[in-house]
Amino acid sequence: MTSRISGFYKKSPEERLELISQHLNLSDEEKELMLGHSGFTVAQADRLVENVVGYLPVPLGIAVNFQVNGKDVFVPMATEEPSVIAAASNAAKQNIGGFFTSYSGSIMRGQIQVIGVKDPYGALARIYENKEAILEQCNEQDPTLVSFGGGAKDLDVQIIDGESEKMVVAHLLVDTKDAMGANAVNTMAEAVSPFIEKITGGKVVLRILSNLADQRIVRARGVFENPFKGDRDALENFIRAYELAEADPYRAATHNKGIMNGISAVVLATGNDTRAVEAGAHAYASVTGRYRSLTRWEINADDSITGTIELPMPVGLIGGATQSHPVAKLATKILDVETAEELAGIIASTGLAQNFAGLRALAGEGIQQGHMKLHARNMAVMAGAHDDEVDNVVKLAANQGKISYDNIRQIVLSLQENGGSH
Ligand code: MEV
Repeated sequence: MTSRISGFYKKSPEERLELISQHLNLSDEEKELMLGHSGFTVAQADRLVENVVGYLPVPLGIAVNFQVNGKDVFVPMATEEPSVIAAASNAAKQNIGGFFTSYSGSIMRGQIQVIGVKDPYGALARIYENKEAILEQCNEQDPTLVSFGGGAKDLDVQIIDGESEKMVVAHLLVDTKDAMGANAVNTMAEAVSPFIEKITGGKVVLRILSNLADQRIVRARGVFENPFKGDRDALENFIRAYELAEADPYRAATHNKGIMNGISAVVLATGNDTRAVEAGAHAYASVTGRYRSLTRWEINADDSITGTIELPMPVGLIGGATQSHPVAKLATKILDVETAEELAGIIASTGLAQNFAGLRALAGEGIQQGHMKLHARNMAVMAGAHDDEVDNVVKLAANQGKISYDNIRQIVLSLQENGGSH
């Protein structure tokens, strides 16, 4: 199977789905579900969250041209932002030889905060002395996870200088395998707290997972063609643009936002927790004490560009909306992944591709030209164009070389004044 489908963007949603379906053997029911003809219901929404009155459909697209660890993949992306899916597909097309990834394993941290400890350092030592008993109590909470080789594996105890006192914070290091793991970790942290109080002589306050999942790190690497053939300045500008993100938090925030455009879209499409991944990413970008880029870029001797990305990736294939949301489940089927590790690698590769696309546009023609073109259909709708007028309005605006909201609004008004069909 190849994920390089030329002209994918020119096809209709039904044709695109048919192409994907040929590779992944989607059933008619699954196709109906994906096209929104059946499937996610208010009743299902009502089981997922509280006080439901409806649901908000978000567009789901497929990024093409991706190959990750030697395997071609179609990447489902759920996003309301124009340009994102096109940019990811386009960047993946300029990728040479695929993306390569590695994963540190699915270790999550659960924090247990202990206050009122008379001898914080003595307590720290006593917690470690009781490590085996603590881990055993934790693992009693989740025999299923343990049977898959997961569970509480280790401790990391820290003394935190709070404003009022020195606090002891015990971290449970839990291998959550193919689950995101928040519930498993929180259950363990709560269950073991009375024992921690006994050991420390203090009082436990917080018992909750940390979203700075620094032991659940994914790395991705990809080499990209030089997109600025012969224009050495533009190639240098690409690196300068990245260097600004490394050195300047104002730019890093936008640079990383662009990366998260890709990452969050795949995280959302697969029913994973976007906020957990985003919190982890931004916290990890700041671990050195300054907020920096999540990616690195280097020019190779042949002027190709190597990009790397490194960030926490607490995503899973088990539990929560990943399974209870029928479309998310189908999106995961399209990804054709068996493990959280594979999923994490694809997500990181998408983020890297997204960043390449952003820097390429910024160092070259600027972001607005391509963006406004893709945004034109939206603007036509906002300006009051009816469904059967949208394409014509966009075409007229493009022919005039003026894709702005004001111009599009003018075109819509004059079309409709001059006896449009409505
Ligand atoms: C827009 O959603 C994302 C960009 O601003 C990212 C970037 O500046 O690198 C284009």
